[in-house]
Amino acid sequence: MTYDNPSQPSSSIPNPDSSPAAPRKSQPEILIPADRIAARIRELGAEISRDYHGRPLRLIGVLKGAWVFLADLIRAIDLEEVTVDFLGVATYGDGKQTSGEVRFTKDLDQSIEGSEVLLVEDILDTGLTFDFILSVLRNRKPKSLRAVTLFDKASRRVRPVQADYVGFTIPDEFVVGFGLDFAQNYRQLPYIGVLK
Ligand code: IMP
Repeated sequence: MTYDNPSQPSSSIPNPDSSPAAPRKSQPEILIPADRIAARIRELGAEISRDYHGRPLRLIGVLKGAWVFLADLIRAIDLEEVTVDFLGVATYGDGKQTSGEVRFTKDLDQSIEGSEVLLVEDILDTGLTFDFILSVLRNRKPKSLRAVTLFDKASRRVRPVQADYVGFTIPDEFVVGFGLDFAQNYRQLPYIGVLK
């Protein structure tokens, strides 16, 4: 699904600076409101449920950004056997720019050898992190390996990678909310917004 200029319902915008003592942070501009994200995740869940019908599925969430998406996605998946594991990765770089150097902060708890694996990502940007994670997972010999990303900044790609399931293709803007951060802030926002 491509981003198509949603309207901005002002009533759903939480104010991160509601405490008088809080340092002032800029208020993100809504790019995709919470209700559209919820609807799209239900569609992704239905599609994944059809594709994996009768097969046990292992979801692998990439920390920290993907946990909010994964929490909603797993509840939209209707399969008899779904298990979850997490990988932690940190990319070197400052603020809004990824350097492409990736390091693991947490490994999987269980082996994925012989499993049907679906990697759950928050956002696909240059593709460097995604490419690195996929190559590590491939080496562990899963039965199958696919990926879902909630947001895709397709125009920014420097590696020729793509996800099998994409929530929204978005413009080249730095976005926050729905698990995505800037300097560890804004993850709690229920919408996805652009930080100006
Ligand atoms: P990539 O390696 O350039 O594809 O970027 C990977 C990681 O950078 C993502 O998993 C995010 O954690 C982070 N990232 C990229 N773009 C954004 C953004 O717009 N907002 C917040 N984090 C981002």
